[in-house]
Amino acid sequence: MSSRKNSFTMVIAGAAFFAMAAFLIWAFSQAGTLGMYRWGYRTPVLALVVVGLLPLAGAAAVLALRKRGGKLIAIVSGISISVSTLSLLVALGVSLYIFTNAYGTVASVERPTVLDPAKGFPLRTGPDGRPTFRVALSSDPHYGREASNAQARSAILRLSQAEYAAGSLDAFFALGDTVEMGMEADDWKEAIESIRQDAPTLPFAALLGNHDGLIGGATRWRAAFAGGSGRNGVPEGGLTASSWRMDAGQVHFIALDLLWGPEGFGAKEKAWLADQLKAIPAGDFIVVLSHSFFYSSGYIDEGSGKAWYDHEEMLREVAPLIAGKADLVISGHNHYMEWIEADGTVWAVVGAMGGKPDPVPTYVSPGSVWFSQGRFGRLVVELKPEGLACEFQDQEGNQLFSRVIPKH
Ligand SMILES: [Fe+2]
Ligand SMILES: [Fe+2]
Repeated sequence: MSSRKNSFTMVIAGAAFFAMAAFLIWAFSQAGTLGMYRWGYRTPVLALVVVGLLPLAGAAAVLALRKRGGKLIAIVSGISISVSTLSLLVALGVSLYIFTNAYGTVASVERPTVLDPAKGFPLRTGPDGRPTFRVALSSDPHYGREASNAQARSAILRLSQAEYAAGSLDAFFALGDTVEMGMEADDWKEAIESIRQDAPTLPFAALLGNHDGLIGGATRWRAAFAGGSGRNGVPEGGLTASSWRMDAGQVHFIALDLLWGPEGFGAKEKAWLADQLKAIPAGDFIVVLSHSFFYSSGYIDEGSGKAWYDHEEMLREVAPLIAGKADLVISGHNHYMEWIEADGTVWAVVGAMGGKPDPVPTYVSPGSVWFSQGRFGRLVVELKPEGLACEFQDQEGNQLFSRVIPKH
């Protein structure tokens, strides 16, 4: 076999391997990809790893046989070149598809009305003469998915917009999974246009959800929702565009980047969280916001066999940092509404903004006080003289459950 053909075999095998490796390194450096791999989409990723490694195996076989010469090496070399070519085409094709989606056409020239979390929203004066507010929170509308309930998410936004216009609501916190596929311009176009139609002036504070982050979708999420004045929309004092602290009088909201779970929530993030908690005056209210839930009732996912309830890693790695310190932790991710009291903190789940409801739970979280499946709605939080008044409402604003978290 000629040394020329030999080196071509090596070059194309190396090119295929590096193209796939570069794509996978980029993908796993993006928010949420490691979580995606661990929680749902393992097979396609493993298939890409195998496709990237096959050319190396082919090249190794050619190297091992090169001294033998003859027909066998010619055949093996031919197979190796074909495999490497196919592998290279797959790596380039997948990269092209993902990059043109994640960074392609602008989804929308407009965007929802977005708050700068470092500045927050103007407070009103309550009956006790102290600053007060009333905000609504919900999560998981999943724009771009056929199975989502467009009527429910519109109703929730229209109700919130009407209250904002009437001066009885100050902001809307969207806790993630705004869209089904974060890298798709079409999903964001639908989301942004619908939000602007239903809630043109309602001020949003938003978090990045695991679906928003798919794959490299964080750039599109930032284009829609990042409200900070720093680079990449990071608010002053914040960690990222979706991890920040917002002070509202005696209430302090701390938003954390927890998409599928604690993947990516390392020493830096833990130290930042500890600093925020330390800086908040004793006696004030602390409300932690996260896309992924901590405690939740739920089910075993049939496809992956994973438990979508009381999130083991979140409870082990993140919950101890906030339990007993935060008064209220509000999340989405599971498409339910639930109020759980455990470890000296209230854990609320409000993944009810229109995403397809999750199944009837087969597991009930031990601290569950109130639970709702198959209904859409929002959680309204209001600072009152007696404490933090929390009320789950359906999409029309009817009360479903309410509690006051008393003053310390
Ligand atoms: Fe979701
Ligand atoms: Fe989610």
